[in-house]
Order: sequence, then structure tokens, then C-alpha cells
Amino acid sequence: MSKKVILSGIQSTGKLTLGNYLGAIDNWVHMQEEYDCYYMIANLHTLTVRNNPEELKNNTLKILATYIAAGLNPEKNTLFIQSQVKEHAELGWILDCYTYMGELSRMTQFKDKSAKHADNINAGLFTYPALMAADILLYQADLVPVGEDQRQHLEITRDLAERFNKIYGKTFVVPEAYVRKESARIMGLQDPTSKMSKSATNPNDVIFVEDEPEIILKKFKKAVTDSENKVKFDPENKPGVSNLMQIYASITGKTMEEIENEFEGKGYGDFKMTVANSVIDKLKPVQEKYKQILEDKEYLEKIYTKGAENARKIAAKTLEDVKNKIGIL
Ligand code: TYM
Repeated sequence: MSKKVILSGIQSTGKLTLGNYLGAIDNWVHMQEEYDCYYMIANLHTLTVRNNPEELKNNTLKILATYIAAGLNPEKNTLFIQSQVKEHAELGWILDCYTYMGELSRMTQFKDKSAKHADNINAGLFTYPALMAADILLYQADLVPVGEDQRQHLEITRDLAERFNKIYGKTFVVPEAYVRKESARIMGLQDPTSKMSKSATNPNDVIFVEDEPEIILKKFKKAVTDSENKVKFDPENKPGVSNLMQIYASITGKTMEEIENEFEGKGYGDFKMTVANSVIDKLKPVQEKYKQILEDKEYLEKIYTKGAENARKIAAKTLEDVKNKIGIL
């Protein structure tokens, strides 16, 4: 039996966060043996906000280097850059024409980003989910490993696939979101009621994958907790402590109960140090490899060129089927 197919991706804006790492990349690493995996860098999606062109190019390569440094084997996974497989833009346009304004206006990401970039609420930001659906449906993906914040986009992708299949007959696999419980939604360290995000205004709110150990330690020491001094999982009443537990759980694989027992009778100082050290130990080998890989631009070019070639084979087949069905010569 052939392997199930996975597709996922990350936008190439700004620096990767611990949320991106635990919510996405780290989960992907565990899936590479069992599945046929396609991981892309969503640089077309990035255009929905203004970027410095040089920075965008560099960020694209940095994310690819992080994928490899984190343990995604380029021989086993197809690693590629979205813009280099033109079928994404083409199917994106076609799917735009099957997506309703009403569905798009319900997207929380659109509402959040419009509020953040009130001077640039562009059409791309609005139709973003149709391009994301194209990314996924081109590869007939069964599963899409993402953080909780992308679940709504997965729902619209499923709706689009079903809508299209209903009109034209079976064309797309209807994909499912794969969201790992522990790392589904890593929250900010200063504001544990909202998700850790690249665009945080307070730098202490977010751990970046490339942060030095001292910085990571400092940020965890400053993390907001509460006055109870008891390590207990209770996201509603103890969001700060629960978030730190979640980070620790997703790195160590321990259950919440095991973590509660481990810190029974100990203060938050010890707890924060242990969580910080688990993050430092997890990221250290990735950071070291990342620096080496990023220097070797030729190697990176080889990987993304081969990745795009592999990806195109599958994407072109799906697009041709779609065009035939809808009458595009
Ligand atoms: P992006 O670039 O915002 O985030 C990339 C991945 O990281 C996850 N993530 C988090 N997970 C847990 N806690 C957090 N605080 C956190 N912050 C981010 C996201 O859920 C995501 O899995 N639209 C997508 C990119 C994309 C895509 C796709 C994803 C484009 N096409 C096709 C999957 C399939 C995005 O903006 O993710």
C-alpha cells in the first residue's frame, strides 16, 4: 500500500519562533518515516504583508536551513519553495473562483491581520486561504500537520475540496488537520492569553529558534506566572504556568501529571530554569547545524531545485486534471 501524503509549510516572514518549531517542524520530523512528506516555504503567502526583498530572499533560505537542521532529511522529504512550483499560483486563482466572500470574511487570521496592518488590507490577504487550499490539494494530501491557529484554514480547504468534487467528480483528496495536543498553541511568555507570534511587540514574549542560550534563560526567568507558586495544569486560571508546562511536555514527552509530581513542593524559580534548559538543549544542536547549512548556499540551491522538480511532478498532474474538468484549454 502506498504511503499517506503530508503537506505543510511556514511563511517566510521574520524569524521562526518556538511556536513554529514545536507546533510544526518538530512534529514533521517524527512523520518522515511513515509518510510521503512535502514541506514548503510559503513565500507567496508572505507577500500579503510588505517585506524587504533582500530579507525575504534570506528568510526563505533560513527556513529551508532550519528544516534540514531540525532533522528533516532532504532525501526522504520533498523540501521546496512555493513560488518555484507555478501550479500553486495557478490553482490558487482557480480556487479563488470557487471560494465565497462570506467564507473568507469569517477567517480570524484575516480579521487579526487586517487590524494589525490597517493601511494595507490587500486582496491577497483576503483570498489567502484559497492559495493555502491550492498548496494542500495539489499534492492530494491526506494530513496537514499544523498548529491550532491554522485549523480554520483547513476547514475551508476541506469545504473547497468537497465542493469541487461534488461538481466535477472525485478530483481532490479531502485532507485532515493533524494538530498535536501538547504543542497546538504555544502562548506568549509575557501574555500567555495570546499565541506566541513572530510579530510580538514585546521581545520577551517570544523565543526565537535562533536565540542564544542566555537570552532564552533570561526570557523564561521573566515569564509571567501567578502568585500561587504551585506547578499545576489549569490553563484557565493559571495560563502562564500551564503554557510553560505545555512547552516542557512537548519537548520531554512527559504528561501533565508527571510534570506536576516532578515539581511538587518546588518553587517557580526551579521550574522555569528546568523548562528553559529543556528548550536550550533542544535548540542547541539545531542552531549549530543551521549555521553550517546556511553558509553552504550551493547545497541549499541543490535541495530546493530538486524539491521543486519532485513537487512539480505531482502538482502538474493534479492541475491538469482540474483544468480538463473545468474546461480550461
Ligand atoms: P505560519 O507561518 O504562521 O506558521 C507556521 C506553522 O507554525 C504553527 N504555529 C504555531 N503552533 C503552535 N503555537 C504557536 N504559537 C504557533 N505559531 C505558529 C502554525 O500553526 C503553522 O503550522 N498559512 C500558514 C502557512 C501555509 C500552510 C500552507 C500551512 C501556507 N500554505 C499549507 C499548511 C499547509 C501560516 O501562515 O503559518
